[in-house]
Amino acid sequence: MPTRIKNLEHYQALCKKAIDDPTSFWDEQAKSFHWFEPYTEVLQWEFDTPDVKWFIEGKTNICYNCLDVHLEDHGDDTALIWEPNDPTEAFKKFSYDELHKAVCKTANALKAMDISKGDRVVFYMPMVPELAIGILACARIGAIHSVVFAGFSAQALADRVDDAQAKMIICSDYNERGEKSIPVKAIVDEAMDISCNSVSHVLVHKNTGNPINWSDDVDKWWHEKMDNMPTECPVEIMDSEDPLFILYTSGSTGKPKGVVHTHGGYMVYTAYSFQNVFQYEPGDIYWCTADIGWITGHSYIVYGPLLSRATTIMFEGVPSYPDASRFWNIVEKYKVNQFYTAPTAIRALMACGDEWTEGHDLTSLKVIGSVGEPINEEAWHWYNEKIGCFKAPIVDTWWQTETGGIMISSIPGVTDCKPTYAAYPLPGVQAVLVDPSGEEIREYNSEGLLCISFPWPSMIRTTYGDHERCKQVYFSAFEGKYFTGDGARTDSEGRIRVIGRVDDVINVSGHRIGTAEVENAINAHPRVIESAVVGYPHEIKGQGIYAYLICSGDSELDDTVRNEVIEVVRREIGPIAKPDKIQFVPALPKTRSGKIMRRILRKIAAKEFDQLGDVSTLLNPQIVAVIKENAL
Ligand code: WTA
Repeated sequence: MPTRIKNLEHYQALCKKAIDDPTSFWDEQAKSFHWFEPYTEVLQWEFDTPDVKWFIEGKTNICYNCLDVHLEDHGDDTALIWEPNDPTEAFKKFSYDELHKAVCKTANALKAMDISKGDRVVFYMPMVPELAIGILACARIGAIHSVVFAGFSAQALADRVDDAQAKMIICSDYNERGEKSIPVKAIVDEAMDISCNSVSHVLVHKNTGNPINWSDDVDKWWHEKMDNMPTECPVEIMDSEDPLFILYTSGSTGKPKGVVHTHGGYMVYTAYSFQNVFQYEPGDIYWCTADIGWITGHSYIVYGPLLSRATTIMFEGVPSYPDASRFWNIVEKYKVNQFYTAPTAIRALMACGDEWTEGHDLTSLKVIGSVGEPINEEAWHWYNEKIGCFKAPIVDTWWQTETGGIMISSIPGVTDCKPTYAAYPLPGVQAVLVDPSGEEIREYNSEGLLCISFPWPSMIRTTYGDHERCKQVYFSAFEGKYFTGDGARTDSEGRIRVIGRVDDVINVSGHRIGTAEVENAINAHPRVIESAVVGYPHEIKGQGIYAYLICSGDSELDDTVRNEVIEVVRREIGPIAKPDKIQFVPALPKTRSGKIMRRILRKIAAKEFDQLGDVSTLLNPQIVAVIKENAL
């Protein structure tokens, strides 16, 4: 097992060791895993290309380390608990032994369908056990999984399938979420009609059994393919640097990019961070409420916990169904010890009133976590009082799809927890603030751009199919540093508080959405001449989407256009990217070189009218007053 940080002195000693001798520090973390062949070197790196390799020449398989290594002594321990959307339905439990068998069967079925090492398999599924089983099966045979969040539209799914050149899509028939039943297979059919030419088969898991369209050539039933498959499947021996998965995420420009993670480094770092941040002890019941469609679900529902022989809960439903006490019912039902959720869920539940938490026994909770966006002070205190009962420390964990694992977080019992501060980097993480010229800011009590100046094992290796983009986006802003895209500030003792994105990415309910993507979708509407999209503070979602549109034609049709624009965005990206506010404007504020002044649009959207600054140098300064006057 990786090093468990015991106390503050130990934490400080580890931080120092990781800087003075990173090779031996990370060797210490990696050696307890199973390697079919040991690595010959810990790290080779340079950030210019970038070219980063961890545990060189080492041969391993993350699935083997998640399952097989535990079987001999702990095969009967519970690996996975699945809680269905409908609380009156039966939950499911898988021991390590059962999960291993299910994964092997699936791996054999995939092989029988001609999936082999290096092939890409896209998952478009609700939170059912087959999703976790499916991705582990891919890892087992060396296929590269790419999970697409099941809330994305057919177009967004098709874009990702095409970019990954996936050979197979695995989906369910329907997705049951709260009272909604979403026709997942029908969306896959639509994506297949749009493009997806690389796909030879769609493997369909029967979730509800409700009617779906079927094409005999392409569509295959999951259960039929699993039938009679052996429950043993040898693992593919993978190079440490072989890709494990691709996960698409939004950036400030262009289409979403496929972040690539590897077997070796990702394995070591997710286990190390899981065990330390959550202080997981054998026998604890751990629950992360994220969806496996996002990085949090990959690293902290599936891989980190299973590598640590934990019991991990997977929840199919939503926090508000059948009512706002669902989370706390589940905590009580399974006596959850570590609970990990997003600020948006906390704010939404807080807004429902305290009566939903009252009367629930939450005393099993030892650590409660937050992820995905900055947690505001009010939500932090509510979480601390009502859920943590002033007893379970809050870990505010900062990280990204690209970092693979938690980078900055308090460590319970080791470092303190200060409201709204993610606090200190984990040992081995060299986080620095820089000013816009790239100069490092060493004084505390300052504000700057958050960078990481030394590699860590689970860092992004490339953006799939376009290495140059990886270099441009992350390694070109500041020489020799990975740039996160976030702004941050430090307090007088160096604790870090991440304020939010400084690029054109909006964080809506913890989901990353690129303004350029939304604008492209909006511009597809025939009446839209030009658009500009910005984020604004939203009480529940953290940030909402504010769209300014220049439209042609009759302004009496504004409401119709508004609804049509929302529909276009839903079709092109998915409901999560729908604008919350749409303002029609005669023009957009522009610089003399024709660039849209988003800073001004952000201030107007936030109703910070007194902070517009000097607008006199604009090409069209008079427009600012007009937009301000009609702000929503
Ligand atoms: C934001 C999610 C403040 C940040 C794991 C980052 C946070 C982006 C926090 C990554 C936090 C995540 N405090 N901001 N604790 N955690 N963020 O890739 O802006 O979906 O860059 O990964 O979320 O989002 P992603």
